[in-house]
Amino acid sequence: MKKIGEGKTKAVFQDETGKRYFLRFKDDITAFNMEKHEQLQGKGALNCDITWMIYEHLKKNGIDTSYIARTDEITIEVSDVKMIPVEVVVRNRAYGSFLKRFDLVSGAKLDFPLVEFFYKDDERNDPQLTRELFELMDLATPEEIEELKRSAKKINGILLALFESCGISLVDFKIEFGKDPSGKLLLADEIDPDSCRLWGQDGEMLDKERFRKGMGKIVESYKDIQGRLKGVL
Ligand code: TMP
Ligand code: ASP
Repeated sequence: MKKIGEGKTKAVFQDETGKRYFLRFKDDITAFNMEKHEQLQGKGALNCDITWMIYEHLKKNGIDTSYIARTDEITIEVSDVKMIPVEVVVRNRAYGSFLKRFDLVSGAKLDFPLVEFFYKDDERNDPQLTRELFELMDLATPEEIEELKRSAKKINGILLALFESCGISLVDFKIEFGKDPSGKLLLADEIDPDSCRLWGQDGEMLDKERFRKGMGKIVESYKDIQGRLKGVL
């Protein structure tokens, strides 16, 4: 297998035939654009398992994804997609970077789920995209932007219900999409406690915010999420 790409927490491999692709989850955890960076043993396997469970659930609920099969503890086979360099963020509650822009009570429920787009560019700190910028930068057509928004809202509905069924409030999350060779949009990348904000019933933070804030017990918390999801899926 040949490594053809690597990000902060995952790497992409291609097999000898050049036709199969694999996403491998690493134990690295980073925040604030690598300002904080550690390795936590077992985190890659936990995120791989959680992402796999969530993607299977989304697939059952009619979401098209790039995921094919779980091939080992830390690896998922994925289809050939060209990633759109955009982070699609859905917010159910006011938190994180949203609070830096708007003066709302931390954790306040938003009247409706808000979908935001950010251009993936670490050097520029992922600038936010308006619909026009999205189009101007040739990242997607107006129809595709609509489809991304529709799909993000549908995914949010499915995930809200899933997490609610195991006593977790889905505050916000980030997803990414790719295009297959025919141009079809597919959900790709990960969905796990690195890319979501998840609060327990008492408001306890269960996700990567624990690492951002130096709260500790990160692997334990990810295991808790894995166990709760296993209990309902
Ligand atoms: P934000 O409030 O910092 O904009 O984050 C919104 C959501 O996106 C939150 O669930 C964390 C997630 N996220 C990522 O997955 N990767 C990132 O690089 C950032 C900044 C946020
Ligand atoms: N994922 C980003 C980073 O590594 C930011 C974050 O999630 O806080 O550095």
